[in-house]
Order: sequence, then structure tokens, then C-alpha cells
Amino acid sequence: MTAAETGRVSFDAFDEINYPRPERTDFDGVAERFLSRRAFLRGTAAAGATAFVLGAGGFAGRPAKAASMALAFEPVAANSDDAITVPKGFRQHVVASWGDQLWSKSAPFDHKTRGDAASQALACGDNNDGMALFATPDGRSVLAVNNEYTNIPIIYGARASKAPETADDVMKGKAAHGVTVMEIAEKGGVWSIVKDSPYNRRITADSPMEITGPAVGHDLLKTAADPEGKRSLGTWNNCGNGRTPWGTYLTCEENFNGYFSSSEASQDQKPVALPDGFARYGIGPKDWGYAWATADERFDIAKHPNEANRNGYIVEIDPMDPGSTPMKRTALGRIKHENAELVVASDGRVVVYMGDDERGEFLYRYVSAGKYVEGGDASRLLVDGDLYVAKFNDDGTGMWVKLTPEATGMASKAEICIHTRQAGSAVGATTMDRPEWVAAHPMKAEVYCCLTNNKNRGKKPNAGGDATPTNGPNPREGNNYGQIVRWRPAGGDHAADGFEWDLFVLAGNPTVHQDAYAGSKNVTAENMFNSPDGLAFDSQGRLWIQTDGDYSNAEGFAGMGNNQMLVADTETGEIKRFLVGPKECEITGFAWSADKKTLFIGVQHPGEDGDSHWPEGGDATPRSSIVAISREDGAAIG
Ligand code: FEO
Ligand code: CA
Ligand code: CA
Repeated sequence: MTAAETGRVSFDAFDEINYPRPERTDFDGVAERFLSRRAFLRGTAAAGATAFVLGAGGFAGRPAKAASMALAFEPVAANSDDAITVPKGFRQHVVASWGDQLWSKSAPFDHKTRGDAASQALACGDNNDGMALFATPDGRSVLAVNNEYTNIPIIYGARASKAPETADDVMKGKAAHGVTVMEIAEKGGVWSIVKDSPYNRRITADSPMEITGPAVGHDLLKTAADPEGKRSLGTWNNCGNGRTPWGTYLTCEENFNGYFSSSEASQDQKPVALPDGFARYGIGPKDWGYAWATADERFDIAKHPNEANRNGYIVEIDPMDPGSTPMKRTALGRIKHENAELVVASDGRVVVYMGDDERGEFLYRYVSAGKYVEGGDASRLLVDGDLYVAKFNDDGTGMWVKLTPEATGMASKAEICIHTRQAGSAVGATTMDRPEWVAAHPMKAEVYCCLTNNKNRGKKPNAGGDATPTNGPNPREGNNYGQIVRWRPAGGDHAADGFEWDLFVLAGNPTVHQDAYAGSKNVTAENMFNSPDGLAFDSQGRLWIQTDGDYSNAEGFAGMGNNQMLVADTETGEIKRFLVGPKECEITGFAWSADKKTLFIGVQHPGEDGDSHWPEGGDATPRSSIVAISREDGAAIG
């Protein structure tokens, strides 16, 4: 198998290898504008009309500390250790790892076999990502955490082929995906899983789901097993998350496409004819090496093409009721969902900000029809509402464009909720550099989004053929470093259609570059990073940034070390490195204990290229894990 087939390349790279974009270059005006930006960015020359729209952080040089915001710690240095590094005065420990038991009737993780379908079904899923902590009425802590995907050579490391070989292997893989809900508790400063808690639950690629919203019952969602298009099985590739004020968990289906394949393709006949819309989502004849279709024909698009239309949604889960059916919320659109940042607008309507993480895809907003009332009926708030897509203007203004049949030329709201990307293209949405997590400031109407990177910016169109010239919030061609954009809704109202935006930070490497790729002025040799991904505010208004980028520590990434977590003061622009992860991981996911004394973060895919034994060390199998961080003096950390 090639590296791509065994899932050892990134999701977006896999799509590109298998479904290459048309080669079309887009250099109109780029060079000219780029030059003026170069002159501006690291220098002191006045900004021209074509300069970056940078916020205070970008202009301020090394900003002064704001006492109210600063978290007192000495920043940690970049490193390439196979360990977690936190600042002096802080401590950390692993709470739960892939394969840890949720029930005492199951077996502990076996480093040799790496488990089977039966043990995996009763254990923490793999590659933990977004998460949220909920308090039960009697004060217990229930953590819901996404299990995004699996690294095939790791979970099948006991097989000679380092790949799934049997139907049981495929079932194990499906059981390692989805969501883990588990009670955790602290004793003597150490958090761990409460085995056999009535709250413990695994939701996997086989769990029954209810489809809700405009697309329920649409012809494109009907299958042989579900002729009404109302109930599907499973959720997978659950990336970031959200939470609602009514106490539910939102899990976001991202690269759902990589699990489908076609039995026609394996017969090596003529090219497989794909249904409308499949190319835009990267659904094609080959999967990522997971081989799910070999043991479950649901994943064979030659037999059940509509199955693929039943994924790519946000799913709402009640973590307090292990018997509840997860609800697929089609009203929030079908994209490669990153996270779901939910805020309540001035008039009580629910607003959800959502990124579609692929090169040149869009940023979305959902606005509910009804209003949130504390303790009221929330069952329709993510069912009835409108979807919008973002248009950014180069002058620092922007607009949310409502996706209606009139505006998009599509037949119905249902179709917009299934072919959401095509709807965004139809209204000329702004192509973005892979929108990852969105985070809303807890004290004011200001929203931030990580645009992680986009090597194709200015070079290739997106999967729908939309040109991707550099634009306001995505100002650098061949952008390998990423940036964070922020916007302020008009009148401080999240439901308003207008907004003003600027860039909070352009990541870069000032030790290698002197131009725009050096980054904005709040990026220094001491705090530099690439590929911002996870993003969250704590209760004090500090912005935490997690990275999922190039950890080679060489060439353009020299001096950045392993993936990391930083904390930013959004008033001054100051950014400090708080944590460095082990080898070949990304840092992803946030949760805080009720007393704010513990910050939980995720370490995902340590050793994805074969060079980590974290967390156990020695020759142990590397395992994605949830880590608790606290201060040695017991003070709050968020
Ligand atoms: Fe699953 Fe876009 O990160
Ligand atoms: Ca992510
Ligand atoms: Ca990621």
C-alpha cells in the first residue's frame, strides 16, 4: 500500500493525491499586491490600501503585558522531545488513553495485540479531538470527547501488513471512531476514568442516529436499509466540537469521505461514474485504507451511494442520557465540519459559527428561527433556522450571505443542507485557508477563527473550481504557516449580517524569512508556531491556540519544534508558548474542570510517522491521550 492508502498522509493531502484539482494558476495582480505587503509587514512604512488588515497585535511590536489578561508563567522553549513540556510551576498527567477500559468487565489495553473489536467496543476510542466537560446534577464530571480517526499502522501494528486484515479488524476500527462519553474524577490531584459509571458510553461508526432538519427524508438520504431517509448508522471522523447552553454536546463530522470506496473500482474496469456532488466532497472509488467496505457494504458507493450523503453533519448528543439517540442536525449544513462555536445573539436566537476545513472552502454561520430560553424547549433550535456563508471584503468589512433557494439556484433548503459547499460557491463565498476552530470571546462580540494553512493559495482552485487568489483574510500565496482572523459583528449582534474583520496573527518564521512569511509582529523567534488549529477562550478571556502543523523543526519550520499550545492576550496581541507536545502529535481539544483548576487538553496521533512511545515510554505503543494540567499552587488556570 502507498503511504496515502495507509492513511499516513494528511486528510487533505490524500484527497489531492486521489482527486487532483485542475491545474490552474491564478496570478492576477498577486505579485504586485504581494510586494506592497512585503514592504509593509515587517517594516514601519505606512500601510497602503493593499496592506494586510492587521489588528492591534499585528501592529504593536512586542506588546506590554495587560495585568488583567496575563497568565503568569515563563514561556516554554520549542523542543522536539517525546514528552509534554509545561511551564515551571505547572504539572500534567495523562487522564485517559486510547484503549483504556470504560468498564471493568473488559481487558486493559494490550500493547502487543493493540486490542480487537470486542475490547475496543468497551474502551476509549482513538485519536481524541474536541471535547467538553459536563456536570451532573450531583456534581460529577462527565467528559464527552471525539475520537476522530485512527492511524492505521498504529492500531494494526500487530498485523504483518500493519493494516486491517480481517472483518474483526474492520470492526475494531469502526469501534475506535466516534465519541467517548465517560465520567472522570479527581483524587489526590490525579484525574482518572470512573469505570462502570452509568454515564459511560461509546458512540461509534455503527451507533443508530436520527436525521433531523430540512434534509430529513430527502431522496438523497434514502437507502436500502432506510427507505425513509430518517435514520442512519454511526458518526466518524469527529473533529472539533461545540456545546449548547441547554447541556448537550455537539460533535462535528469532518473528513467523512475517506471511509467510502467502490467495489466497481476493485474490478479494475472503466472509471467509476460518481453521483452528482461526490467530487466536491472528495468521495470516490478509493478509501483511506480503512477497508470498511470490505466488511460492511454500507461503505461501498457502488451499492449504496446515498450513504455518503448521510455524513458530514453536526451531531447533537445528550451526555446525561446514555440511552438517548444522537441527532444529526442537517440544518447546520453538510461540509467537512471542524467545530461548532455556539453563542446566543442579543435577541436570544442561537448562532453557530462553523468552518469547513479544506483548502479554499468556506466559513459558515447558522441562525436559529426560535429563541433560547433558559430551561425552555430547545429541541427545535438546531432544526429550524438559516445557513449563511461568509464574504470578506479586502477593506476590512464583510457580510454573511443567506443560503436560500433564490440566492443559490438550488431546488430547496434540503438540497442546500446536503450540497452546502455548492451553495456557498453559487453565492461567491470567500475561499479560505482551511477554516479550523472558531472561538467566540466570552465578554464581547468578537469571534476568532484559525485558518491553518493552504499551500494552494494563489495556485489552485478549490475542489469546486472556485479560484483562490490571495484575498483579505488569506493574504499569502502558498501559505504554509496559517493565520487567525477575527471579526466583530455589526452592532455587537451575532445575528447581524455585517461585520468588520482583521487579522489577529499571521504565523511565520522570522528567523528564516524577512518577508510576509516571517509573520506578523506578534510572532517572534521565541513564540513562533505554524498551522493554528484548536482555538478556545477561557473564562477570563484568554485565547488558547493549539497547533497541528509541520514538526520537522527544519528549513521553514526550523526552531518551531513539536506541535504546541500557546496563550494569547487578544487586547495586546501578546502570544506566549505554554506547552510543547510529544513527537509527531498534534495538540487538540479543550475542557476546564468546574473549579477551573484543571485544564484538559488532547494529544492526538503521537508517533504518526513511527517515532514516539508517548505516553508510557520504553517500547510502548504510542497512544492518543487526554492530559490534565494544573498549577502546583492550586490556583485556577482558566
Ligand atoms: Fe480534524 Fe481540521 O482538523
Ligand atoms: Ca482540527
Ligand atoms: Ca487536525
